Amino acid sequence: MRVFSSKAITLFLLAGGCLAASACSPCHSVIVERFARTGMGRSIQAEPTLPPVKFYHRLSNRHYTIRDGSIRRHQLDSGVREIQIVEKSIGFGIGSGNHAVTLVHRSPLGLLIELPLSWYRQLGSYGMSPGYDAPNHFDMRREITSACLFCHAAYPRAGAKPEIPSSIDCARCHGDTRAHLANPRRGTILNPSKLSAARQLDICLQCHLQTVSQGIPDSIRRPGRDAFSFRPGEALSAFKLFFDRADPPEPRFEVNHAGYRLLQSACFKSSKGRMTCTTCHDPHTAQVRNACRDCHSSSHAQAANTNCTGCHMPSRRPTDAIHVTMTDHWIQRRPSFQNPEREIHTPYAGPAVPFYTEIDRLTLAIANIGGLTAEVPELYRAHLRRDPNDVATLAALGNSLFRLGRRGEAMPVLDKVLRLDANHVGALNTLAVAHAAQGAYGKAIALLDRARQAHPDHSLTWVNLGVTYNAMGRREDAIQSFREAIRLQPDFAEARSKLAALLP
Ligand code: HEC
Ligand code: HEC
Ligand code: HEC
Ligand code: HEC
Ligand code: HEC
Ligand code: HEC
Ligand code: HEC
Repeated sequence: MRVFSSKAITLFLLAGGCLAASACSPCHSVIVERFARTGMGRSIQAEPTLPPVKFYHRLSNRHYTIRDGSIRRHQLDSGVREIQIVEKSIGFGIGSGNHAVTLVHRSPLGLLIELPLSWYRQLGSYGMSPGYDAPNHFDMRREITSACLFCHAAYPRAGAKPEIPSSIDCARCHGDTRAHLANPRRGTILNPSKLSAARQLDICLQCHLQTVSQGIPDSIRRPGRDAFSFRPGEALSAFKLFFDRADPPEPRFEVNHAGYRLLQSACFKSSKGRMTCTTCHDPHTAQVRNACRDCHSSSHAQAANTNCTGCHMPSRRPTDAIHVTMTDHWIQRRPSFQNPEREIHTPYAGPAVPFYTEIDRLTLAIANIGGLTAEVPELYRAHLRRDPNDVATLAALGNSLFRLGRRGEAMPVLDKVLRLDANHVGALNTLAVAHAAQGAYGKAIALLDRARQAHPDHSLTWVNLGVTYNAMGRREDAIQSFREAIRLQPDFAEARSKLAALLP
């Protein structure tokens, strides 16, 4: 190892408190190079190289064309004329491509939209993104939340304008690197091997524990915790609380199930907390070693040269993304499963139950909110007493009050949402509808214009604009707005019926 002068290190720090791995390479070049080759080290494709394609999705009857860094969607009117055309530039990709790359559009205001096509290694080509192989899907309208990037990227740089995120880096497992760069020696940076096994496990589980990808909230952050505020070394339960479905986990097997399945295996449960991810994985190369014999000494387990994982940890097709295969980390005597032919999204109406973390009654009740009842706003209010500025809960409160017909209470709540997040599209829409209901059309249009600028692809905004224009007697503007909603979302039935009612 070479030790650099502190002058060189100051330069790294000036480059934005640089957390990127390049700051470490002068002294840890082998680790930096190895990590850069892992999937984690390549988790974001800043400039994806994309083969052009023409792709027809039969279920939703939509044509997609990828060419010159952009994606275009159209439908055909009586088989000839192209209609409902939407075109978006491709900003970057999520995923190393070891299994898949999901394409993402970045709007001029920095809004991130998941695109309907992903590239799959096993297909050597494109397919619908997970969850999109259906007659109605999000198409080019689904906002990528901080949740995706918490698991797939480096910490965002403080104060930086929205930018293309970087791949997972050293800081995600070693925490703040500044003290170490200023004083590079032992003890000035977190070495996970010095933590308890439980805290070591939590470093990996911050991203590798996902109980379900849909149906119930898989986890809820604790009051006051920002999306990116988890730091290695702390208990994951101090950051977020996990839920699971109450039905048996079989046959559900999902893309990000390594942690979830491992935690259920007898090896993990019966080894008294000794087993972590690094029992088998090198964190910097992500490669595995055969650790089975550390713990198993039966003659069967000691059999030389047998591929233990081939029988006990088979690779199988997840139920939520069928163009990839993943290693099942639930180590079983005789694993039995059937690879799905299509994505399985079985609806689930049962309760959300605690998983991995202990959960207080209020958080559990919030996770279990199903339909809209008079108690729902009270639950949100109780949560807001712990975390007054939680935008998502404020927006949910405003929306539930509005839907319960308690408009007078809803409006100040929605105003507060907009003071905290001026571009909150849901709050802009609900508040606009509330103003329109009072006849304050000018205010409603102003709010909807803001929503349209912040999120031009939000089809509901255009329907609300259409309804408001129509109430104002501006029929042509109403027709235009409904047409725009249908262009963005061809399967928007309400927009189609409202348009039909206005046409002769
Ligand atoms: C100027 C050289 C230098 C740079 C740059 C540097 N390190 Fe180190 N690092 C060291 C030295 C020296 C040690 C102590 C090694 C030893 O004693 O074997 C060390 C030790 C470590 C340890 C083990 C700490 C412990 O207490 O056991 C970790 C983890 C680490 N570095 C991570 C990083 C990361 C991450 C970066 C980049 C953000 C980085 N280092 C940048 C020189 C450097
Ligand atoms: C910041 C989130 C995050 C953390 C922390 C994290 N992982 Fe990952 N890990 C991922 C993502 C995302 C992928 C998939 C990357 C890809 O291929 O695009 C992945 C992939 C992997 C892989 C597949 C092989 C490869 O080349 O990357 C292994 C093995 C792995 N992680 C093990 C670990 C272990 C062990 C830890 C803890 C020491 C850990 N991960 C911590 C997010 C994380
Ligand atoms: C809770 C953390 C988490 C969230 C949230 C999450 N992912 Fe992942 N994702 C992972 C991990 C970990 C893997 C690697 C799984 C494995 O290899 O076992 C992965 C795998 C992937 C892959 C395949 C990468 C490869 O080539 O191996 C893609 C693409 C992907 N995720 C996209 C997304 C998108 C898009 C979102 C948001 C809609 C998302 N993920 C949300 C953690 C997460
Ligand atoms: C996925 C999590 C993860 C990431 C990302 C990660 N490390 Fe580590 N690192 C660990 C763990 C876990 C240990 C403890 C090793 C062990 O358990 O033996 C460790 C140990 C170390 C050590 C001390 C022991 C050794 O192997 O020399 C250094 C130095 C180090 N890491 C540097 C880095 C650098 C530099 C980067 C970025 C290129 C990085 N790490 C990225 C998890 C990670
Ligand atoms: C940290 C220790 C540890 C490691 C590493 C480990 N196991 Fe286990 N495993 C256990 C313990 C403890 C049990 C439960 C007691 C028993 O059946 O021996 C167990 C149980 C099992 C069972 C029976 C499962 C059941 O549900 O009845 C199988 C099969 C198994 N292990 C295979 C493996 C294989 C294959 C590997 C390597 C990929 C492995 N184990 C790695 C500790 C470990
Ligand atoms: C008992 C050993 C063992 C333990 C413990 C273990 N893994 Fe694995 N893991 C494997 C094996 C074996 C593979 C398949 C490797 C291969 O095909 O090269 C694998 C593959 C992976 C992959 C690659 C993608 C896939 O699903 O094929 C990821 C991601 C991963 N493990 C994450 C984790 C995480 C996170 C933990 C801790 C929660 C963990 N592993 C604990 C043995 C283990
Ligand atoms: C050809 C498939 C196959 C391979 C390869 C294999 N196993 Fe097994 N293993 C089995 C089956 C089947 C059982 C269940 C036997 C039973 O139910 O009594 C089993 C049972 C076990 C058990 C629980 C009973 C016991 O003997 O302790 C452990 C632990 C185990 N295997 C570990 C391993 C390890 C470690 C390896 C690699 C050295 C390995 N197995 C390789 C098929 C395999």
